[in-house]
Order: sequence, then C-alpha cells, then structure tokens
Amino acid sequence: MSDIKVGIIMGSQSDLPVMAEAAKFLEEIGVGFELTIVSAHRTPQRMIDYAGKASERGIKVIIAGAGGAAHLPGMVASLTTLPVIGVPVKSSNSIDGWDSILSILQMPSGIPVATVALNGARNAGILSASMIGAFDEELGSRLAAFKESLKAKVESSAEEIEQKGWREILGE
Ligand code: RP5
Repeated sequence: MSDIKVGIIMGSQSDLPVMAEAAKFLEEIGVGFELTIVSAHRTPQRMIDYAGKASERGIKVIIAGAGGAAHLPGMVASLTTLPVIGVPVKSSNSIDGWDSILSILQMPSGIPVATVALNGARNAGILSASMIGAFDEELGSRLAAFKESLKAKVESSAEEIEQKGWREILGE
C-alpha cells in the first residue's frame, strides 16, 4: 500500500497559495500526501473519478479547498466514505469569504464536511494528521511533540512580556 495518506485537492490553481499550507504542515510532520486540482464545476467527471478512486489508492483523508460557490468539498463528501475536511478559500470570486464558508459548512444531514476557518488550510493539515495519528502511534507521538512546541512558544512569549513589559515588546 502506498504511503500517500492524505489527498489535497482544490478547485483552481488560484487556491494554491492558501492550500499549500496544508501540504507544508504534512511535510513537516511526515505524512505522505498528494496534491492536485479538481474542479466541481469545470471538471465534474474528474471529481467523481477522484473521489471514487481515492480510497483504493490508500488515501485516508481528503482535504478539499474551494472559494465562492464552493461545492467541491461537499460533493466529494457525497461520493466517498472517507472523511473530508473543507477549506473555505477567500478567492477572487468570493464576495467576502462568507459565501465560501457557508457553501462548505452548511451541509445536509448525512453528508458532513469538517470545515476549518477561512483560508485555514494549515489547520486542515493538522486535523488530517490527527485523524491518521489516532491509528498510528509514531505519528501520534510527533503530533504530541508539535503540540508541546506550541505550548512552549506561548510560555516563552508570556515570560518575555512579563519580564520586559508590553510597551517594550511593542517597541514603544
Ligand atoms: C472556485 O472558484 C475555485 O476553488 C477558486 O477558489 C475560485 C476561483 O477560481 P478561478 O477563477 O481563479 O480559477 O471554484
């Protein structure tokens, strides 16, 4: 079985600067992934084929990003039993980001999409790794170390602000 566990897809190449954050996290944490473009509206058959064959290629989680009338994550979720994480993208055709969010978030009962924040692709990467880490002890340990690093960063910022005072931190 291939070691590609996460499929990252997006509706357009214009989504890449946002969606690359998911890929970067998966590289950091050591989870195999593939990344490509699949458009629900412009390539509907490609979307059907992608969703239908993802599981047999070893993919365990799909991260799907789209903006505006963002139907890709929900449609992919309707075509597979794999978990789908949706990333609303504030794209050039998005009015204000809310269209992307609501298109992905407000799914009908029975077809869930785990929706992250607007442009929140890094969190989508983290969430996909957590899903796989629940069944993979080594990855689980790497995720624990990652969470420790977040904690250490906050603690060191707190120490610095307490020692120096907030005005010095602001450079005033
Ligand atoms: C969506 O339309 C894509 O996911 C992208 O966010 C947005 C704009 O696409 P382009 O016109 O830039 O290709 O389907």
